[in-house]
Amino acid sequence: MTLESFSPITNEWYYPSEEVLRNAYIADYDAVYREADADIEAFWAKQAQNLDWFRTWEQVLDSSNPPFYQWFVGGKTNIAHNALDRHIKTARKNKLALIWEGEPGDKQTYSYYRLWREVNRFANVLKSMGVKKGDRVTIYMGRIPELLIAMVACAKIGAVHSVIYGGFSEQALADRIEDAQSRVLVTCDGAWLRGNIVKLKDVVDEAVRKTPVIESIIVVKRTGQPVNMEQGRDYWYHDLVALPIASPICETAVMDAEDPLFILYTSGTTGKPKGILHTHGGYQVYTSTTLSWVFDVKDEDRYWCAADPGWITGHSYIVYAPLIIGATSFMYEGAPNHPYPNRWWRLIEEYGITILYTAPTAIRGLMRFGDAWPNRHDLSSLRLLGSVGEPINPEAWKWFYNVIGKGRCPIMDTWWQTETGGFMITPLPSVGLKPGSATRPFPGIKVDVVDEAGDPVPPGTDGNLVIQRPWPAMLRTIYGDPDRFVKQYWSAYAKQGWYLTGDTARKDEDGYIWIIGRNDDVIKVSGYRLGTAEIESGLVSHPAVAEAAAIGIPDEVRGSVIYAYCILRAGHQPSEELRDALKEHVRHEIGPIAVPAKIEFVDVLPKTRSGKIMRRVLRARAMGQPEGDLSTLEG
Ligand code: PRX
Repeated sequence: MTLESFSPITNEWYYPSEEVLRNAYIADYDAVYREADADIEAFWAKQAQNLDWFRTWEQVLDSSNPPFYQWFVGGKTNIAHNALDRHIKTARKNKLALIWEGEPGDKQTYSYYRLWREVNRFANVLKSMGVKKGDRVTIYMGRIPELLIAMVACAKIGAVHSVIYGGFSEQALADRIEDAQSRVLVTCDGAWLRGNIVKLKDVVDEAVRKTPVIESIIVVKRTGQPVNMEQGRDYWYHDLVALPIASPICETAVMDAEDPLFILYTSGTTGKPKGILHTHGGYQVYTSTTLSWVFDVKDEDRYWCAADPGWITGHSYIVYAPLIIGATSFMYEGAPNHPYPNRWWRLIEEYGITILYTAPTAIRGLMRFGDAWPNRHDLSSLRLLGSVGEPINPEAWKWFYNVIGKGRCPIMDTWWQTETGGFMITPLPSVGLKPGSATRPFPGIKVDVVDEAGDPVPPGTDGNLVIQRPWPAMLRTIYGDPDRFVKQYWSAYAKQGWYLTGDTARKDEDGYIWIIGRNDDVIKVSGYRLGTAEIESGLVSHPAVAEAAAIGIPDEVRGSVIYAYCILRAGHQPSEELRDALKEHVRHEIGPIAVPAKIEFVDVLPKTRSGKIMRRVLRARAMGQPEGDLSTLEG
């Protein structure tokens, strides 16, 4: 696969069937887009009225201090109330909220009522540990129901959760605990992955040794191997929720619409991860509206978002939005190909999944095993498919469409970011699709592809993707670093007041948007977002490395893989052992996803005269392509 094959603009159309059109919430995209455009505040106020508010807002959007926009100002609410409390008073009480299967094959189901009670119990546990409104709680666990329970329990009492993806190592975890200053951490003994135990509690023990902030650790027993439990600090989850204090009734904290709901760390252009901050009010309105309209979720659906709850996709579209709209969600703990490559297809058949939302890397990974695996299963329950995280190449799109969806299920290719909180550029089921394009902006969203000056580029030309108007689920700041928030996202087009996405895109003659990829120093590996600076600082923290450069190289399955170039310190010689040691070091410092596929030892790195590494040159070299204009190269 070449770089180019990722985003060719094609004019191959796929139209929805009569049945899809009949089902769709939004039958006429253009009409709704125009309605939203005409009065953006009225449009979002109308969507917000579908939810409960303890007190109605006084102002829909406060733009008086850009880019610190505020939504539903003066409104009182709590996302946990809309996600659970309100359903308990209706027939939804008896509906399944969550169907879960563990990798070993064990099963759990939660009705809305059961989930509500479990969330209340755990919320009371957190309270009894002294967690108060505004306090941060770090969550580091596998894909199990308690992860979702812990998140909503935090929201319920007004605490701010910071979920750290279970693939991060102790240093990454410690840095994020430190940044959020969490006193309480929720984890599990281990997680099942490909038949093995990922020993999460061991990682936690190492991490808390590096940071003095954590006072209490709550441990869910999942995998059952012996773990270290430190007296007075570590508590078993099952012990705590069995205490009288863990009553199944817990009052929901009354939150301001703009009170923080969670911090989610993501990679940017420096080595320090950014704590993206989202709030209760706007986020609940935006995520629930987008999920209803894009995935057309109905009571009879069984919706499966196969992402990890530790990423934004999981926060918005496994945890909060599905609960708010009263959906039945399915969640699976483990690897897609365990024990065989038909695991997902078997799950779809067994549980009658109707909507499957996943990532191109997973699609390409499963495609590699051939059509026989899915063809063995009855996938006729499916009616809609979705993709997120990176551009989907037309080949994978068509395989997903034809082999999995049997040509019946439109693919919702949703473009968005941790920062945007919800889908931004996305089809709705009723629109015509072109494989590889995320199509057009969601109603109310205004985007364009522009040059450095801010002028729209002609169709088919690369430009910067910008968002030109605030939206309710927008990030409010970078936790503890408002200056970085302004500089990173709002300074490139400060005059126009636009948000810079960091993505390069093209528009075609029909106004469809084609995402090319990141144009900053962010690499997407299997859809996971990593900063080159993070990987480089991981490498130079090894005593043998003087300088390092990391780049992303296209990969058939993972989208990109990391190539790293290292200059060694005097006294160190290149060797296979050192290469392995460096990979192990990165695994330890950041996590398995950041381990370079290839490490090359070099004497010099191509740099500009101002000392910036020219990754473009390294990338061209690695791919055997012309190196382009080298006039700015250091002499
Ligand atoms: O480059 C875009 C890519 O993922 C980036 C955001 O990464 P993250 O914050 O981890 O969120 C991923 C899940 C929402 C974007 O800047 N990206 C995301 N979705 C798509 C995409 N690229 C192309 N097509 C998509 N559908």
